[in-house]
Amino acid sequence: QNPSISVDVSRRLSKIDPNIYGGFTEHMGRCIYGGIYDPGNPLSDAHGYRTDVISALRELDIPVIRYPGGNFVATYHWQDGVGPRENRPARPELAWLGTETNEFGTDEFMQWLEVLSLGLEKRVEPYFCLNFGTGTLDEALAWVEYCNGTKNTYYANLRRKNGREEPYNIKYWALGNEMWGPWQVGQMTAEDYSKRASQWAKALKLLDPTLCLILCGETGHSSWDHAVLNACIPFIDMHSIHMYTSSNSHIPNAIAPLSAERAIQTAAALIDIARIENKIPPSVPQTKICFDEWNVWDPVRAPGEQGAEELYTLSDALAVAVWLNVFVRQSKWVGMANIAQTVNVISPLMTTKEGIVRQATWWPLLLFSRYMRGWTLGTHVQCGAYDGETEPAWLQGVLEQGASWLDVSASVSEEGVVSLVVVNINDQRDYEIEVGDVGANITVYTVTGPNVKAVNAAGKEEVGIKETKWDGIGKFKFSRHSMTMLRWQ
Ligand code: AHR
Repeated sequence: QNPSISVDVSRRLSKIDPNIYGGFTEHMGRCIYGGIYDPGNPLSDAHGYRTDVISALRELDIPVIRYPGGNFVATYHWQDGVGPRENRPARPELAWLGTETNEFGTDEFMQWLEVLSLGLEKRVEPYFCLNFGTGTLDEALAWVEYCNGTKNTYYANLRRKNGREEPYNIKYWALGNEMWGPWQVGQMTAEDYSKRASQWAKALKLLDPTLCLILCGETGHSSWDHAVLNACIPFIDMHSIHMYTSSNSHIPNAIAPLSAERAIQTAAALIDIARIENKIPPSVPQTKICFDEWNVWDPVRAPGEQGAEELYTLSDALAVAVWLNVFVRQSKWVGMANIAQTVNVISPLMTTKEGIVRQATWWPLLLFSRYMRGWTLGTHVQCGAYDGETEPAWLQGVLEQGASWLDVSASVSEEGVVSLVVVNINDQRDYEIEVGDVGANITVYTVTGPNVKAVNAAGKEEVGIKETKWDGIGKFKFSRHSMTMLRWQ
């Protein structure tokens, strides 16, 4: 059969939550200090916020940003980071083995978000993560009261004293981070975590019933996920999972995010089971997955303790495009996703003292965040598949017919604009093929570079984006190692 791609415009599968284009800023490496906050740099404003970073992030139209960790949060005491700067203590930081000066804390992050949100249709939502390592429930309640309290109470008044009259209304709160991990301060068993998480959740909701509480999952397909979901589902609103992919060889690298697709499907099934076992009535809104750390990351290439500054290749950019295709295809289940991270640390955006660099992975993220909104559409692709080794190895077993050389997703916006993304992972051949029902006036965005090892760095942009037009007649050529977005109405 002839290779082809078709999009079923009449088949709206599920709503895409805009929060799948979320970010993450952790006190790690140069993400906060030297990334978003760089006082004294001529590129920073009066508060010390890098204006070039803010302008770049506005292009991305990020809906939500997770803060302050990550592993960092397991020894973080939020009260160290509020009030007059001269009184804030410097503390040893045990996740990345540095010193935390606490110069930047809750009020600075919220002020930075306000500046970032200027001129945007909606504010960029904060998503805070609670300290489940050395933190206490009292501290967590105090943090929520500080941020959201409206009454004449101690911590709400402390916020007022620190210069912020109105509550911040922070809706999203995570019940710890990677508490299953041996690297985590306060690592615990699923049983211990579940007891703690459900008790904290009950108390937090008594204080503020509007909170959206996010359970700490693992990869989505582990016995930890199974156990904590079963024990805690009546008390929580979303289930978080984390995954990083990478491989030294191009095709396994580009398709590794398909393992996240499998993880989402498994986590969705675990959520179903937990809801059934806990007799949660269907009238209770669906428990969605919060994929609050995802990206390409090779910790050998970019060790966390050294700030995890990855130099991303075109191969990685294609992997990021496949990651985003996965979130669009699985939009029924994914209520939020946060690329880890937003600046400098395993990030598409890097800062130098003199400016910013948009890495290769920036371009797919930009295109998806701008255009893949609305509804997921049904697609069909026929072009042959890669059936070799995968990373992780188990992926090969679950890919029944291999990984399609063209990885595809499609959406239709509220205004009726269709966007079709085609990632040609093959670095050896182009595909010139029929694309069904595309209309006559198509805008084409292509992300590619000279080869899969191409990178962007200060003064060198090998991977970029090109905008062209297509009249929809005949076949379309999807070039080797490229991501293409076709848009029409
Ligand atoms: O994003 C970097 C780190 O990766 C986070 O701190 C941690 O949660 C994960 O292991």
